[in-house]
Amino acid sequence: PAGLLQDTLARPLRDLRISVTDRCNFRCSYCMPKEVFDKNYPYLPHASLLSFEEITRLARQFVAHGVRKIRLTGGEPLLRKNIEVLIEQLAALRTPEGQPLDLTLTTNGSLLARKAASLKAAGLQRVTVSLDGLDDVVFRRMNDVDFPVAEVLAGIDAAKAAGLGPIKVNMVVKRGTNEHEIVPMARHFRGTGHVLRFIEYMDVGATNGWRMDEVLPSAEVVRLIDRELPLVPLEAAAPGETAQRWAYADGSGEVGVISSVTQAFCGDCNRARLSTEGQLYLCLFASQGHDLRALLRGDATDEQIAAAIAGIWQGRTDRYSQLRGLQAPDSSAPGPRRVEMSYIGG
Ligand code: GTP
Ligand code: 5AD
Ligand code: SF4
Ligand code: SF4
Repeated sequence: PAGLLQDTLARPLRDLRISVTDRCNFRCSYCMPKEVFDKNYPYLPHASLLSFEEITRLARQFVAHGVRKIRLTGGEPLLRKNIEVLIEQLAALRTPEGQPLDLTLTTNGSLLARKAASLKAAGLQRVTVSLDGLDDVVFRRMNDVDFPVAEVLAGIDAAKAAGLGPIKVNMVVKRGTNEHEIVPMARHFRGTGHVLRFIEYMDVGATNGWRMDEVLPSAEVVRLIDRELPLVPLEAAAPGETAQRWAYADGSGEVGVISSVTQAFCGDCNRARLSTEGQLYLCLFASQGHDLRALLRGDATDEQIAAAIAGIWQGRTDRYSQLRGLQAPDSSAPGPRRVEMSYIGG
């Protein structure tokens, strides 16, 4: 029956992350390094992209199988033309119990000041904004396109004013690059109602030149903050959550740490990812997807698409981060080339 779908590790399907474009106007070195993502990079041609109708048709089948949260990602999702139209379509979907979905979007914030009101009007519930530091010099260097931090902060303010809260702010921490921004970021967002989360730099994709010595373990992040702004641990809000939550002891809000490298959370990972061209990936670190676009553009019925999704999820074995954690550090034999995060969606 619908909603009882489980993979080989008894994990349900709850969260669908949809990448709506493989392009971005930033060039964060941990995601789309300039040397690789230059003007010759083979971005997807328009005809390969799923249309909004195709995305919504698939999303409806995912909801029938238990999905309750949809996150739009990219690349930078606000670069996709008329994204509000897709949001309207997804906001109209209902669970079998008649409830709307948790509909959210991850953005770099660069276009948010301009778009917050129209996103809210289209039915988006909340946003997560990526922000790697408050220092303008550090931030411009990290986005590598000289984008000013003030415009992202204005985007966050606009999102709050539009009612797109509670807002999450994600900071990827790279040792030697932005660890000095951890405490200033914590001070800045404390008391605002926004939830700041620190993400361990991950070995996702094949182009970012990841090295373990550039990972600052989350335990270290918590220690740095706790020293100046005492923290107390919080219980997980939902099963399968990516972040471990901490509250400020003085009641001024909470922060989270996402420790995919030092404390894998595959055990109850309930996330599936749909790429811009309609490949279904069962893990952020997968090298192979499942082609749903071929079904959409063939003559498949909704029932056939639903059955295909069920079969794919029931065969799922992925738990990359956990397995990497079990390996000795030097046993990282080069496997098949992993997909890029900008393609599969964060
Ligand atoms: P909410 O807390 O409900 O807003 O969603 P979320 O916790 O999934 O947050 P978000 O989408 O902002 O994800 C935060 C970051 O965690 C992503 O940008 C990724 O860097 C990382 N992440 C999310 N999902 C996974 C996952 O399944 N595996 C790994 N290894 N990392 C993930
Ligand atoms: N490690 C950790 N997080 C990453 N993101 C992108 N690449 C990486 C990486 N290598 C994050 C971004 C953003 C989201 C889309 O994914 O910072 O918050
Ligand atoms: Fe763009 Fe986000 Fe990747 Fe940075 S992390 S290059 S903002 S998609
Ligand atoms: Fe899920 Fe794969 Fe991330 Fe593990 S590594 S939490 S299985 S996406």
